[in-house]
Amino acid sequence: MVEIIAHRGARSIAPENTLAAARRAWELGADRWETDVSFTRDGHLVLFHDDTLSRCTDAPARFGYPVSGEPVAFVRQEDSLIHYTLAELSTLDLGSVFLSTDPFSTIARGEIKEPALSAFKGEKIPTLEQGVVLTRDLGFQINIELKDHGNEPGPFSLAAQTLFIIKRTGISLERITISSFNHGWLNWLGTRAPEIEIQALVGDDDEIPLDFKDFSFKTYNVNAKLISEKGVGELKARGKKVNLFTVNDPHDFSRFVTAGADGIITDFPQQFVIKNKAIT
Ligand code: G3P
Ligand code: MG
Repeated sequence: MVEIIAHRGARSIAPENTLAAARRAWELGADRWETDVSFTRDGHLVLFHDDTLSRCTDAPARFGYPVSGEPVAFVRQEDSLIHYTLAELSTLDLGSVFLSTDPFSTIARGEIKEPALSAFKGEKIPTLEQGVVLTRDLGFQINIELKDHGNEPGPFSLAAQTLFIIKRTGISLERITISSFNHGWLNWLGTRAPEIEIQALVGDDDEIPLDFKDFSFKTYNVNAKLISEKGVGELKARGKKVNLFTVNDPHDFSRFVTAGADGIITDFPQQFVIKNKAIT
């Protein structure tokens, strides 16, 4: 049965990479949620996708820096997450930005009901530890993507700190998968925590053809825009586990499932959890 993985949580119906998005994915019956992890300025790990804050948070207003060159008074110019401490990041509101931007038009279509909608207001950037603890307490599963922003404090520091925090929560390691486009970090983890499934992300850039190098990983999470059903079949013939990102179209979902995909990473778990049950 194909695994339904909620991309950044149920991000089409909740602010992405928040505890609310994770909870929503679990309530829907997704098998797992995917989330992105990055360092703060003071060495904490938070769940956040971009290396800049403006798209998903009220940072420009909160920290007073200009966006798009607008001539406003400001105290800081930086929009990069790595410039901020955990305490500073904890003041940011992702929920209000989700409510005002409605990034998937799900609010406009009436797909998110009260009181869930109002409850998003004030939703914060979670720490990795909060995300893992919630996953543990729900009995849910999590795919932690190690984001390589090129500004980490040491060569394997993000992998090492992530592993430390996972183990500190006491979560069963069977509930964890770790993915990254940085395959060196995954190899480092593979030797230190062989109990955790590692998943090699391939296809960071929609314009650059896939390169599986020596096919040394057991699991590949592949950009669905760059692979055909035949390509999925070839990976399966090599004995690989194959997850695809980011599949939001029902037709794509059906053809990849038919081709043998093991997992589908989607912004719309609410759509495919039902579909999944119908197909298998
Ligand atoms: O894990 C798949 C996907 O999350 C990778 O791309 O940019 O959404 O983190 P991105
Ligand atoms: Mg990701």
